[in-house]
Amino acid sequence: MRLPSPPAIVPLSLLFSFTFFLCSSFVLSASRNSIYRGASLSVEDHVSDVLTSPDQSFACGFYQVGIDAYSFSIWFAHSNIKTVVWTANRDQPVNGRSSRVSLHRDGTMVLTDVDGSIVWSTNTTNKNVDKAELLDTGNLVLKNLSGDILWQSFDYPTDTLLPGQPFTRRTRLISAMANGTHVSGYFTLFFDNDNVLRLAYDGPEFSSLYWPNPDYTNVFQLGRTKYNSSRTALLDVMGRFSSSDRTNFFASDMGSGIERRLTLDYDGNLRLYSWDNSTASWVVSWLALPRQCDIHGLCGRNGVCTYTPIPKCSCPPGYERSDPVDWNKGCKPKFTRTCNQTQQFKFVELPYTDFWGYDLDYQEQSSLEHCRELCRAKCSCEAFVFGLNGVGACYTKASLFNGRKAPSFPGTIYLKLPKSLDTSEPSNLTISDLTCGFSKVGNQVGSSNMYGKDNKGRTRWIYLYSFIYAIGAIESLFIASGWWCLFRRNKVKISMEDGYRAISSQFKKFTYAELKKATKNFKEELGRGGSGSVYKGVLEDNRVVAVKKLGDVIQGEEEFWAEVSMIGRVNHMNLVRMWGFCTEKTHRLLVYEYVENGSLDKHLFSSSDRSCLLNWKERFRIALGTAKGLAYLHHECLEWVVHCDVKPENILLDSNYEPKIADFGLAKLSQRGQSGSNFSKIRGTKGYMAPEWTLNLLITAKVDVYSYGVVLLEIVKVIRLSDWVVVDGEHETELTRFLRVVKEKIECGGDSWIEDILDPSLRGQFNKKQAAAMVEVGISCVDEDKSKRPTMDEVVKILLEIE
Ligand SMILES: *[C@@H]1O[C@H](CO)[C@@H](O)[C@H](O)[C@H]1NC(C)=O
Ligand SMILES: *[C@@H]1O[C@H](CO)[C@@H](O)[C@H](O)[C@H]1NC(C)=O
Ligand SMILES: *[C@@H]1O[C@H](CO)[C@@H](O)[C@H](O)[C@H]1NC(C)=O
Ligand SMILES: *[C@@H]1O[C@H](CO)[C@@H](O)[C@H](O)[C@H]1NC(C)=O
Ligand SMILES: *[C@@H]1O[C@H](CO)[C@@H](O)[C@H](O)[C@H]1NC(C)=O
Ligand SMILES: *[C@@H]1O[C@H](CO)[C@@H](O)[C@H](O)[C@H]1NC(C)=O
Ligand SMILES: *[C@@H]1O[C@H](CO)[C@@H](O)[C@H](O)[C@H]1NC(C)=O
Repeated sequence: MRLPSPPAIVPLSLLFSFTFFLCSSFVLSASRNSIYRGASLSVEDHVSDVLTSPDQSFACGFYQVGIDAYSFSIWFAHSNIKTVVWTANRDQPVNGRSSRVSLHRDGTMVLTDVDGSIVWSTNTTNKNVDKAELLDTGNLVLKNLSGDILWQSFDYPTDTLLPGQPFTRRTRLISAMANGTHVSGYFTLFFDNDNVLRLAYDGPEFSSLYWPNPDYTNVFQLGRTKYNSSRTALLDVMGRFSSSDRTNFFASDMGSGIERRLTLDYDGNLRLYSWDNSTASWVVSWLALPRQCDIHGLCGRNGVCTYTPIPKCSCPPGYERSDPVDWNKGCKPKFTRTCNQTQQFKFVELPYTDFWGYDLDYQEQSSLEHCRELCRAKCSCEAFVFGLNGVGACYTKASLFNGRKAPSFPGTIYLKLPKSLDTSEPSNLTISDLTCGFSKVGNQVGSSNMYGKDNKGRTRWIYLYSFIYAIGAIESLFIASGWWCLFRRNKVKISMEDGYRAISSQFKKFTYAELKKATKNFKEELGRGGSGSVYKGVLEDNRVVAVKKLGDVIQGEEEFWAEVSMIGRVNHMNLVRMWGFCTEKTHRLLVYEYVENGSLDKHLFSSSDRSCLLNWKERFRIALGTAKGLAYLHHECLEWVVHCDVKPENILLDSNYEPKIADFGLAKLSQRGQSGSNFSKIRGTKGYMAPEWTLNLLITAKVDVYSYGVVLLEIVKVIRLSDWVVVDGEHETELTRFLRVVKEKIECGGDSWIEDILDPSLRGQFNKKQAAAMVEVGISCVDEDKSKRPTMDEVVKILLEIE
């Protein structure tokens, strides 16, 4: 029995707590990180009565989850936005009065509700627990007198894994039910019986595995293995995740000193977040599924996930929503299905749409007519998919789950509906926003029984495995290589493919008038380059921006939209952020963040002002940051992007001399030589261009590696290596000469070669080990043979090792 607290008390108690908070804030700064046996934390003092880790990064105590409802949680303490990483019995919040968490004398830690009932407890009776302590890692531990850990919160994760927290065969992450809540939802990350780390939807009506891509029946094709049964995974402090099944990835901002968390979000996506100190917000530094609709279960039975471009759920013709607030319940047919032989059917066509799984029959070569008859004849057939691979593949479906619609999906689904059913207004799709489509649990009140989950309704998913593996590789045919995206000629519209970033970014379409006003009629020119001029501007919300007027874009509005929104989704600290664009009549403008310190070439080569010369630390940071940005473009971002024009002019420096690469993605926008080879007009800049450009060879990301190598050597040497010089009557570039000199020095100079070739303005103020490594990396990057150049990932690794 819970005592519902009178509503009037709430604001009063909040006010009281707040006042208390103000008065005791000096106490907070010296707050404790442990409690001993016999002590407790009480919910009334939830503001002040918290444990704080010694380095102040985590706090542990009562966290408000609703009106007068609290949970015992651990959260990041660095800002007012408390990001919860762990909760004790997340499905059962406690009342805002008299609830407490105590370390009993018998050694158990117990959370009790207002009526004294035990909501959660550790299993440490009689184990001589001495104290509970919150560590710097975010781990709450119970220790005995000799300091051995007898229990730890790290062993019981909720939806978040922290750096250093092992993920094992016994642990799993379970998503929250809805954004902003902590109640368990339906998505799970776990090691399956085949030792493979997977994501699954395990909902009230059905279950389905969706990551790694279930179209691959063989996980080896995805670089995973089933043969390591240790089933452990770890996110380390550098932001690298590695798992015994070879699921390896790393944060786009890889490096130490950044707070991170790996969270299975309420929408079923697994995201690695990094805390961005400058904007005081979490930024996504890796995510498992770039295309949100690839996540199973999002829209329930019969529902279809569509990009609008934000992912949304809708019901197909002949169906309507089962529950106006809960998309997990999907859509129900507006007709009754019977197996009456005399019933007449019609088939309603939904192009670019597929429902994953639950295939009845599969025929590799079929005709549309034959496929239709197959479905008509089988009572259990609800729809069929036809024409996936051009020769007429036919799949009949027994149930419609995991529906998704994307312009890139080549199949068409035909829904089997009674002939008499009126489907004349199929356009009235009841589209609804995914972000608020889940069951509302917002107004939580501190009573536990509301949150008990109905476990009976859940299907077991073990037996689904065999079923899932039986399904053929539908999509594997269409897994395009990333490079292809950039160099293809016939563009598939991909703009709608990814809605998540559209939600998360403030990417915006501006009007020409707005930008004209922001730049005071394009008054202050910041620079001029191959693709157009750049002007400084100030937006209405006082953001300072750089507005780029593109000169020679020949694309239509829609294509432009598609390409630009792709660039807008790219988000990395070493890449200049695009905030928006404008496409009106013939105007094509791009709006970027303004980067204070201008471009690298000014700092390297403008001999007039020696005062703005960079010191060694700054140089190294620029080299590393630029490599990270390019590595992100090449290997990590949603669509792999080759920059094609890496040079000091395109590397901007912010107020801390952190580099930001500009102009990436523009290779696609300015297609000057339209027909013929895709890049008939070379985009790069002389001196930074890899030899393959002029030799008409295949262009890969290695062209950027080459250009980066030139820039890296320029950072060290501080002369334009792209300039031509005359040596012994022969023309050669500074680069050629530099390489020759270095070779000679290394061959005969022994140890001191590095001093001899470095920028004399450094006057010995540099790190010899770093400098030597940078020269070596730079030289390997400018190898004529592109296969001998390292990848940007490898460059980042080498530089991180000597950081
Ligand atoms: C506590 O531990 C005992 C044995 O170690 C086990 O049988 C029991 O199920 C555990 N209880 C909980 C709640 O984990
Ligand atoms: C603490 O626990 C460890 C492991 O259970 C045990 O070996 C040690 O003796 C304990 N120390 C004390 C003081 O109880
Ligand atoms: C959850 O909601 C918050 C605020 O409403 C928003 O900033 C955040 O992006 C949302 N998270 C996701 C994953 O959509
Ligand atoms: C299995 O994975 C673990 C953890 O990643 C690793 O240490 C071990 O070497 C692997 N074993 C084999 C046989 O590959
Ligand atoms: C983050 O910023 C705060 C204040 O702005 C500063 O005190 C703190 O040291 C910074 N942390 C890191 C990791 O840079
Ligand atoms: C089958 O449908 C016909 C006409 O639609 C109807 O007359 C008949 O009663 C139905 N039979 C059954 C078993 O429902
Ligand atoms: C679409 O459906 C809604 C609710 O079912 C209805 O109110 C509305 O009139 C319909 N719109 C059209 C154009 O039929």
